[in-house]
Amino acid sequence: MEPQLHVITRGSSSKLLLLNNCYILVVVLLCFVLSDSVPFPPKEEVDALREIADELHKRDWDFSLNPCDNNTNFVNPTGSKKFNNTVLCNCTAAECHVSHIILKGQDLSGVLPPSLAKLPHIAYFDVSQNYLNGSIPRQWASTKLQKLALAVNRLSGRIPDFLGNITTLTSLTLESNMFFGNVPASLGNLVNLETLFLSANNLSGEFPKELSGLTKLTVLRLTGNNFVGKLPNFSSWLNLQKV
Ligand SMILES: *[C@@H]1O[C@H](CO)[C@@H](O)[C@H](O)[C@H]1NC(C)=O
Ligand SMILES: *[C@@H]1O[C@H](CO)[C@@H](O)[C@H](O)[C@H]1NC(C)=O
Ligand SMILES: *[C@@H]1O[C@H](CO)[C@@H](O)[C@H](O)[C@H]1NC(C)=O
Ligand SMILES: *[C@@H]1O[C@H](CO)[C@@H](O)[C@H](O)[C@H]1NC(C)=O
Ligand SMILES: *[C@@H]1O[C@H](CO)[C@@H](O)[C@H](O)[C@H]1NC(C)=O
Ligand SMILES: *[C@@H]1O[C@H](CO)[C@@H](O)[C@H](O)[C@H]1NC(C)=O
Ligand SMILES: *[C@@H]1O[C@H](CO)[C@@H](O)[C@H](O)[C@H]1NC(C)=O
Repeated sequence: MEPQLHVITRGSSSKLLLLNNCYILVVVLLCFVLSDSVPFPPKEEVDALREIADELHKRDWDFSLNPCDNNTNFVNPTGSKKFNNTVLCNCTAAECHVSHIILKGQDLSGVLPPSLAKLPHIAYFDVSQNYLNGSIPRQWASTKLQKLALAVNRLSGRIPDFLGNITTLTSLTLESNMFFGNVPASLGNLVNLETLFLSANNLSGEFPKELSGLTKLTVLRLTGNNFVGKLPNFSSWLNLQKV
């Protein structure tokens, strides 16, 4: 011990300076690494993601990782029109909230997750092209979803009235499922809706005239159902491109 101490106390001032600089460098690097790390979402949101995974039968999310830092478990960098595995968050320096869940073409065989409503910032939910069955959960009425894509699954039941409560929706895609019954007039409350895809279900009755008030609608697909009567007067749909 003694000889080493000796070396330091007798070391040249330039060596000491170098040592000091090293410490400063390490501290600076550490600060950089720490300030650059993305916060986890709140525990309630991680718990909600676990429940969502159970409900969907999604078994490969690794909850030892941060769902918000774009690691390859939560954001698969490879994708196609038919496959997508993505969780994104809306983050500030201090906090992150889960905002996007896209699980397309993953052979998921569960149900639509009621626990989605436990994510207060969820804006985008796409589980197209899976084998999900059951109906649309009532809990979703309280969400602020903007995009909801459920195409090509085995979903059934009626299109529920409460979908009309999600007035933030800009895009609603229910096509290629087994939904039946009337389209509820409450969808006329979705004043922000730009695209509505209902084709290839077993919908029936008259298409509700209330939907003619949706002035932002630009794409509407209805084919492959059992609608009767005429479509309502669409002349207020100035933006409509495709019927
Ligand atoms: C994750 O990716 C999204 C979309 O590419 C981007 O907007 C976001 O800033 C990324 N987040 C982090 C923590 O890198
Ligand atoms: C997954 O879907 C999102 C939203 O449509 C898109 O922004 C992203 O590029 C897709 N990811 C891949 C890998 O294709
Ligand atoms: C992120 O959150 C802020 C504040 O809640 C919101 O204004 C913004 O639109 C969100 N951004 C995205 C991409 O969802
Ligand atoms: C959904 O599928 C599961 C498993 O195949 C089945 O047990 C259940 O009865 C189905 N539910 C509905 C509503 O079709
Ligand atoms: C939808 O909104 C109406 C009117 O605000 C409300 O009475 C109803 O309880 C809501 N539905 C659900 C399922 O939350
Ligand atoms: C479609 O609905 C009608 C009743 O509205 C029913 O008789 C028919 O079996 C349904 N078809 C399919 C394929 O589910
Ligand atoms: C359709 O609606 C427009 C404006 O709302 C109105 O001027 C027109 O007379 C209506 N046409 C029919 C056939 O009801």
